[in-house]
Amino acid sequence: MTRKPLIAGNWKMNNTIAQAVVLAQEVSNLFERDWADAVDVAVCPPYVDLKPVKTVFEFDKTPVSVGAQNVYWEPSGAYTGEISIPMLKDIGCRYCIVGHSERRTLFHETNEDVNDKVRALFADKVQPVHPIVCVGESLAVRDEGTCLEFVDAQVRAAFAGTDEVDAKDAVVAYEPVWAIGTGRTATPEQAQEVCAAIRATLAELFGAECADGMRVLYGGSMNEGNADLLLAQPDIDGGLIGGASLKAGSFVEIVKAAL
Ligand code: 13P
Repeated sequence: MTRKPLIAGNWKMNNTIAQAVVLAQEVSNLFERDWADAVDVAVCPPYVDLKPVKTVFEFDKTPVSVGAQNVYWEPSGAYTGEISIPMLKDIGCRYCIVGHSERRTLFHETNEDVNDKVRALFADKVQPVHPIVCVGESLAVRDEGTCLEFVDAQVRAAFAGTDEVDAKDAVVAYEPVWAIGTGRTATPEQAQEVCAAIRATLAELFGAECADGMRVLYGGSMNEGNADLLLAQPDIDGGLIGGASLKAGSFVEIVKAAL
């Protein structure tokens, strides 16, 4: 099974609308249309930038999708400060990051919250928004030698109560916490080991055929200098890029590494 790679930029809490439009335009200008045959590309800006960024890519007919960085599982109601799945669909989001380690650590998101979000995204089947489910261990867990068990438990918790029909279009991103924003990338061997283990967990949950078709990304200090070797690993099907996605040239070089 050959999986089409996905390169997704997570802009995190960066860029006003004006800055976001400039960055999207720079990405668009550097983007060759036929790359879309070989790689899926998305950017995940802050909520307020989603529509303006989407408009830039649509206007230029640039095959770059937009995704959100978070979502709430209820469709509407008295949930001050939250954004719903119908709102993301209205903008035309194709993806939604769920359970990023910054949300787990800084905003106390639990495995149960992540599961509620994943199940809500799966329940909305018309023009679906696909979750990019983030998992990954802290340095303490890695040093303890229990990384694979930890990540296995996160994957099982995120997908609890779902089936292969829903899960097949979901994406899992392995983002070791110690590699995020630190410049300390996992080695290709370390990243491959965990991504392969994630696929094995997915195979236990959803069957080998489904797991074989699902994309598992690596994220954590990925840049144009290390993307080649990471993306060459058999179980790494793309990248979730933070810092390097804020520079159009770097982001596009990573896209090229996935071609
Ligand atoms: P960095 O690429 O800045 O390490 O961030 C990775 C990340 O958290 C993407 O979601």
